[in-house]
Amino acid sequence: MAQLIVLGGAPLHGDVAISGAKNAALPILAAALLAEQPVVIDNLPDLQDITTSIELLNALGCVCQRSDSHTLRVDASTADRVIAPYELVVKMRASILVLGPLLARHGRAEVSFPGGCAIGSRPVDLHLRGLEMMGAVIEIDGGYIKAEVPGGRLCGNHILMDVVSVGATENLMMAAVLADGETVIENAAREPEIVDLANCLNAWGARVSGAGSNRLVIQGVEKLGGGRYTVMPDRIETGTFLAAALATRGCVRTTRTDPTTLEAVLIKLQEAGALVATGSDWIELDARGRDIRAVDLRTAPYPAFPTDMQSQLMAVNAAASGSAMIHETIFENRLMQAQELNRMGAKITVEGHTALVKGVAQLRGAPVRASDLRASAGLVIAALAASGETVIDRVYHIDRGYERIEEKLQGLGATIERRQGPNIEES
Ligand code: UD1
Repeated sequence: MAQLIVLGGAPLHGDVAISGAKNAALPILAAALLAEQPVVIDNLPDLQDITTSIELLNALGCVCQRSDSHTLRVDASTADRVIAPYELVVKMRASILVLGPLLARHGRAEVSFPGGCAIGSRPVDLHLRGLEMMGAVIEIDGGYIKAEVPGGRLCGNHILMDVVSVGATENLMMAAVLADGETVIENAAREPEIVDLANCLNAWGARVSGAGSNRLVIQGVEKLGGGRYTVMPDRIETGTFLAAALATRGCVRTTRTDPTTLEAVLIKLQEAGALVATGSDWIELDARGRDIRAVDLRTAPYPAFPTDMQSQLMAVNAAASGSAMIHETIFENRLMQAQELNRMGAKITVEGHTALVKGVAQLRGAPVRASDLRASAGLVIAALAASGETVIDRVYHIDRGYERIEEKLQGLGATIERRQGPNIEES
């Protein structure tokens, strides 16, 4: 199993180019199923989850051609299969995002029921209830969500979501694009990735308005054409590099990014003591010689502080002065990196959904284990700030969301390398 070996203690400095957003690219790839003509998607990040999505599109009968590692042409014109198999859904929960597009396009879908995952139970009830309100008949059979639309075409409806869900908003938005009449989604998620998906759908001929607000209005169209779309920059990758610069008291400029998508994160980084400057497509964080203070935070749906940046800020807090409370309100099991950070000398106590982090003067390198994608980003940041060597096991979690992470960090002066390690099973 691959490991990352980090020799910490040196401040990061330099420029790093940000990749396309994984969480925007995944729904956009699913949206390709709606189009009757070929689509070309640019600025795709080169990640394991994208490869899994492409495998899924192939399994559904699409013809996918990668002209380079960041550009993909998808032709779904003759795609006629409607089964998203267990082997692919189990690799990536976001596979559930093909449910809405398949139902909208073919009136039928069978998608393996996604199980729980490391960060929580992650139900899909909102996805299913919304689709039922649009006329789908759904049953769970043999571990599969089997859905059918009597009459073949979904009908627009007024849908209120009682929990703000990014994935459910995306699934229902995609389903509504080809539905009969108007769909209104109330209490919709407002994440920038939702806006990117709406812009992409509109570029291909859909009529979606209100994206970025909590009320989406979608006028169904007969068919979706095709076209070209460039995926937005990854705000979480951006925030991760900035947090790493802060934890190491360095100075890093993230380029090819969008400062408007991570205001809540920038506020916290400044509150911690960093100097932050922004331009139209770059953000620079300077923490050289500055006293870094631990900052309280509470995760919540956009535009509040993102749960996907919580572990990175926990790592910053662990090596800062003072102490801070972190409240995780989105997922029930997302403070797991705390125990691993404590193996590096951090002082973190977790009670329920809250962590109390008491900053220490110096973290120390140790062998640690990544438990999920964003938790591992926190471990990398702690390792960069720590003295001595940290060995991070189970790097495949990081590879799901960070493109060439060790190369990008090496470009910022970090001593980090990848190697094949032993397979150590959990006891
Ligand atoms: C997406 C992101 C993930 C991010 C999360 C929250 C992708 C591929 N993943 O995940 O990185 O951490 O948003 O910003 O974009 N819920 C229900 N019922 C449902 C659906 C969700 O109760 O049917 C709950 C979840 O358990 C969770 C909350 O809603 O507590 C938010 O989850 P959701 O926004 O759906 O997350 P994902 O779309 O899975």
